[in-house]
Parts: sequence; structure tokens; C-alpha cells
Amino acid sequence: MNTVRPMEYDLLFDFLRVVEAAAIEAARTMGMGKRKYSDHVAVEKMREVMDTIPMDGTIVIGEGERDEAPMLYIGERVGMGAKDGNARSYPKVDIAVDPLEGTNLCATGSANAIAVLAAAERGGLLHAPDIYMNKIVVGPSVRGAVDIDAPVKENLNAIASRLRRKVEDLTIIVLDRPRHNQLIQDIRDAGARIRLISDGDLSAGISAAVAGSGVHALMGIGGGPEGVITAAAMKCLNGEIQARFVLKEQLEQAEDRAKIADGLVERMRKMGISDPTRVYHTNDLAPGEKIIFAACGVTDGTLLRGVRFFGTGKRTQSLVMTTETMHVRFVDSVHVEGGPDAFVRFDRM
Ligand code: FBP
Repeated sequence: MNTVRPMEYDLLFDFLRVVEAAAIEAARTMGMGKRKYSDHVAVEKMREVMDTIPMDGTIVIGEGERDEAPMLYIGERVGMGAKDGNARSYPKVDIAVDPLEGTNLCATGSANAIAVLAAAERGGLLHAPDIYMNKIVVGPSVRGAVDIDAPVKENLNAIASRLRRKVEDLTIIVLDRPRHNQLIQDIRDAGARIRLISDGDLSAGISAAVAGSGVHALMGIGGGPEGVITAAAMKCLNGEIQARFVLKEQLEQAEDRAKIADGLVERMRKMGISDPTRVYHTNDLAPGEKIIFAACGVTDGTLLRGVRFFGTGKRTQSLVMTTETMHVRFVDSVHVEGGPDAFVRFDRM
């Protein structure tokens, strides 16, 4: 009979397996130019491996609502508890997944595509709808110094002062989108350097919270679900995210704006978000006390190397973290497949 086990330590390795498997699957499609296909294989693999985990899991952020996603949809039950009907014996876990963050990056073989998830005890992650969110993400030394509502220049001065450097010596990551023209201008006017990225503000946010990455903050509007997973990472890294849903940018892309606006507000209300205009801090987005974060590189990136394939196996690099023990682990795995004659090569990380 299964017994209830403490969540974090036991599940850490299982979630590592999940992101590694999804990353390997996606990496096989690197450069094919088929972003949907890359995403599809990552989703399928993630779902498959998820069901081998001894947990009673619920997807709270996934591939969309039930009618628009065949698997890893919001509300889907995953893990061995869902499969064998013996859910009571397993820890109850809420899970936010992004099987392939940066589908275009993978399709074009560009840097920083990752397979990623965050998990927490039930209720430990905000059920965020898939709409845009304005975000500012900073690392531990800057925590408490920025304000998403403050002028860009003020935030840059605060970041520079905490990092004991000049504003000119800061690098800010921003998604390269027309909606950021003013933000980019403001950063330029203040004198900071900018790294524009085509996609992937989740891994960019994590880089901003890791000293030595060469990135000092992420600013701008990206996906809401990515914001929640970033918050889970910030809890493990002592970093900070502040965020606010933005309906305006969402609506500019829609044809029937009035109808969509009503629908959005209603969807948010159903997810427990009664005030869509409020500022969410790290703990609002990821209130859990037992958080697990796992990401595996698909393509080479700032923090993680991508999947490498060789004659007798594959090599992956992942980041796995928990709030319970505050361990941040960079895991270099060799997946040996060549039988008894296969060898493992030393590879400096
Ligand atoms: P996908 O992995 O779903 O392609 O998302 C990539 C991404 O760049 C995210 O990192 C970011 O939050 C979001 O898309 C930005 O959305 P948009 O491309 O609509 O500006």
C-alpha cells in the first residue's frame, strides 16, 4: 500500500525526469521550422512521464482550457493518483507547466528554449488565465527596491544603486515587440543597456535573478502563465517579480473586442481573480510554501545548455529548485543508451 510521503524531496527527481524527457523530445525537432509540432511532442512526452509520478496532481496552468487542449489542460488530473484511482495515498500537488517555453526558439534553433514546470501544495500557485501580464523581475540584491508603477528611470536608478553600479552598466531584457517601443525608449533615455529577445521571457526572468548571468532585470509585457512559473522560480532564488494583468494589449489583438473583454473578465473571475487591475507580488503569484521548480534546456541558453545527442545517448542540463530546502541544483545528466559498451565522457559544465 502507498503511504503519504513528504512532497518536495520525493517529487524533485520525478519532476526532473519530466522536464528532461520533454526537452529531449522537443530538441529532436530543433530547426524544423514547425513550432506547433515541437510543442506537441513536448506536451505528449511531458504528459506521459507525468503519469509515472506517485502524486495526485492537478494541472492549474497548462495548454489551455479543456476544450482547446487534448492534454495538460487546466484542471486535468495527472500522476499515478489519477491513473490508479487511489488518489488518497498520494500527495496532492498543483502543477503549472510550459512543456516548451519558446516554441519559435526551438523551431528556429535559437537560444533559450526550455521545458519547464512548477509545482506546489494545493492552492500554492495562482490560476492565471492565458492573458498578458506586465512584469518586472529582479534578483535577490534588488528585492524590495523596484515598483512596477514607478517610472522606468526610477526603477533603473534603484536597481543600479542596489547593485552598486552605474545605470549605464545595467543590462535589461525586454521582449522585442512594438508594444514595448515606449519602454525601450525610456530605458535608452535612462542610459541602461538593453538585450532584446524574440521570445522566452520566462527563462529571461530567471536569468535576471541569477548573479553572473549578465542580466539585471526583465521588464515588459509577456504571458501571464509564464509570470506564475517565474514567480515559483523567484521563491526558490530569493528574487522578486511584480506583475499586473494587461487587458488592453490582449484586446488590441482581438477582433470582437467588447465580447472578448466581457469573456476575459468572466474567465478571470472564475479563476478567483476578482480585481484584474491589482499588482501581484511574488507571493501572490506563487503563495505555496512547498514549491518545486524544474527546467531543462532545449536549445543552448544563458543559464542552461541545450540537449546534446551523441552516438550512445544524450546529455541534458537542468535547473531544479525547492523552497523547502532552498537547494538550487544545476543537474547535468547523461542518458546512456548504447548498452554495455557505452561510455560517459567528462564534460565541463
Ligand atoms: P511560446 O513558448 O508559447 O511560443 O511563448 C513564447 C513567449 O515569448 C513567452 O516567453 C512570452 O511570455 C510570450 O510568448 C509573449 O507573447 P507574444 O509572442 O504574444 O508577445
